[in-house]
Amino acid sequence: MKEKLEQIREAAKAQLADANADLEAIRIRFLGKKGELTGVLRGMGQLSAEERPKIGQLANEVREYIENAIAERAEADKRAALDRKLRDERIDVTMPGKAPEIGKRHPLAQVQKEMEDIFIGMGFGIVEGPEVEYDYYNFQALNIPENHPARDTQDTFYITDNILLRSQTSPVQVRTMEKQKPPIRIISPGRVYRSDAVDASHSPLFHQLEGLVVDKGITMGDLKGTLETFAKTMFGESTQIRFRPHHFPFTEPSAEVDVSCFVCGGKGCRLCKGEGWIEILGAGMVHPNVLRGCDIDPEVYSGFAFGMGIERVTMIKYGIDDMRYLYENDVRFLNQF
Ligand code: PHE
Repeated sequence: MKEKLEQIREAAKAQLADANADLEAIRIRFLGKKGELTGVLRGMGQLSAEERPKIGQLANEVREYIENAIAERAEADKRAALDRKLRDERIDVTMPGKAPEIGKRHPLAQVQKEMEDIFIGMGFGIVEGPEVEYDYYNFQALNIPENHPARDTQDTFYITDNILLRSQTSPVQVRTMEKQKPPIRIISPGRVYRSDAVDASHSPLFHQLEGLVVDKGITMGDLKGTLETFAKTMFGESTQIRFRPHHFPFTEPSAEVDVSCFVCGGKGCRLCKGEGWIEILGAGMVHPNVLRGCDIDPEVYSGFAFGMGIERVTMIKYGIDDMRYLYENDVRFLNQF
């Protein structure tokens, strides 16, 4: 029996030396209820009274030995696993970090913000209007009755017979004058729609910025001064503006406004197509019919309005020759601004 116990100790020792030892299986094999050591202890009844304590003591020693050996091995395995982890997952704190990519505003949004800031600096407030608009606000209240030829140049998308996607930001003029009595001094940037095919200078969706000033004694001189200040701030101090007679149903008199070409200074170049001038907006004195329709007496009050394309200003400012670049969102293009 003594030899049997020594064998068990040696067998356990040998198994625990194996690199792939399964500790739980070893524990069950030697110390479990049906384990080898337990088997020996069960046979102790057959021993003589003087042998029994000696064998009992040895059996205890062997059990303690195996228990300790398993615990030591478990501890060693744990330490080895931790060492491996520390080695494999080592961090080089001197390595340069990954810089986060910081986004920025789209060029159209940048220019819109710049335009807004210029007008805010002159005391204008910002008002927004709906993109899905009534025919009444987009056309009728702007002195463009049904079948008026001016509708042809602003054909848009219709939701119903009298609801459409606004073709201009001018309806915000009417909405503002209905709600607010003079003095009025607002700009209104936003999306507008026209059923135009896409090409280098057209898009069914684009952006405009509308301006409206109504008060006692407002004249064309105020309009000119305001637009000149805008043009000089936007395109450079030496920029000049030029008014050409035009027609808009909702302003009288009306004008198309050009800025002197800031690339060639007016001599003629590729940007201004040899003209020396670049058209940037439409403007005029608010038509008495429009004022009257909003319950503002044209005998007491007068006003001016203007509207310009934000794409157009952006393209002129940055020398972009194809509008489609502004909508493709190719980062190689956008990163330049
Ligand atoms: N709404 C006009 C357009 O889209 C521009 C404009 C605005 C003209 C205000 C005069 C006054 O063409």
